[in-house]
Amino acid sequence: MAADRPVDGSTGAPARAVQQTKDVDPTDDLLSANLRNWDERVPIHTRSRFYDVEHWLQTRPGPRVREIEAIGDVAGLDLVHLQCHFGLDTLAWADAGARVTGLDFSPAAIAAAQALAARAGLAGRASFVCASVYDAARALAPETFDVVYVSLGALCWLPSVGRWADQVAALARPGGRLYLHDGHPMAWSLASDSLALEYSYFEEPTPYVDDSEDTYTDSDAPLANARSYEWNHGIGEVVSALIDRGFRIDRLTEHDWTVHQQFPWLVETVAHHWSAPAGQPRIPLSYTVVATRTP
Ligand SMILES: C[S@@+](CC[C@H](N)C(=O)[O-])C[C@H]1O[C@@H](n2cnc3c(N)ncnc32)[C@H](O)[C@@H]1O
Repeated sequence: MAADRPVDGSTGAPARAVQQTKDVDPTDDLLSANLRNWDERVPIHTRSRFYDVEHWLQTRPGPRVREIEAIGDVAGLDLVHLQCHFGLDTLAWADAGARVTGLDFSPAAIAAAQALAARAGLAGRASFVCASVYDAARALAPETFDVVYVSLGALCWLPSVGRWADQVAALARPGGRLYLHDGHPMAWSLASDSLALEYSYFEEPTPYVDDSEDTYTDSDAPLANARSYEWNHGIGEVVSALIDRGFRIDRLTEHDWTVHQQFPWLVETVAHHWSAPAGQPRIPLSYTVVATRTP
């Protein structure tokens, strides 16, 4: 298990190392804007009804049934959660017996995750590291993991799914598994208020620019750092990136639901389960990939 690391992501290696590519990566300014946006969202999310942290602390529900079915018993396994936000899903896996490491580029998210781990009595089994997902393997070295876990709302923040898959391949032990549940690229290509196609289904060098002052949870204040940049990644691009790096795809499931009201026309069928209304054609809104890294 990872030793606790400082919030700035330093691992004993020079903390500035994470920024070495700044002069050569044209997406860095865009990712910096995303970081400001996410730092601001953290306190809104931790006090939101959507995440309901107090209820979570009281009930300690553990991982979702669908996640347990996909991954199985994690007792004693090392699990890394990429883009862990403030650690709720990460700590659910610690409750299930895994030794967990959460990684996120937002210092506010990592600080909130560490505070939540302490409140949950899990600080001894959960480490949180502040780093870009594109630097994850280096930030966590020499550790590798039995499970790489990625939960909904992750890949859209990354310009290149290939660079993401490089990190996943470096982090997973031979025989280790990836669990990815994310928003469906078909849904991301739709207009916000109709079923019309408005954006590319595929990964493009030009990002989608979002100036929305809202976040996906209930919110009590508009975002001052509203601008964020997102990129779509087709299902084939995601799956091929993994196969090219030595993963076997065990399961690819497209879901007709997602976990938040991505479009105003979605209806909540059960809590945190939003689908097209009855009578409207079903479309894929999220998807799950379970993959195993071959030796
Ligand atoms: C939608 S949240 C993930 C939410 C998570 N599924 C949950 O419900 O708690 C997306 C997370 O990705 C993180 N993130 C975005 N871009 C990142 C990057 N380049 N490197 C690391 N983390 C990043 C954000 O800080 C944020 O915490």
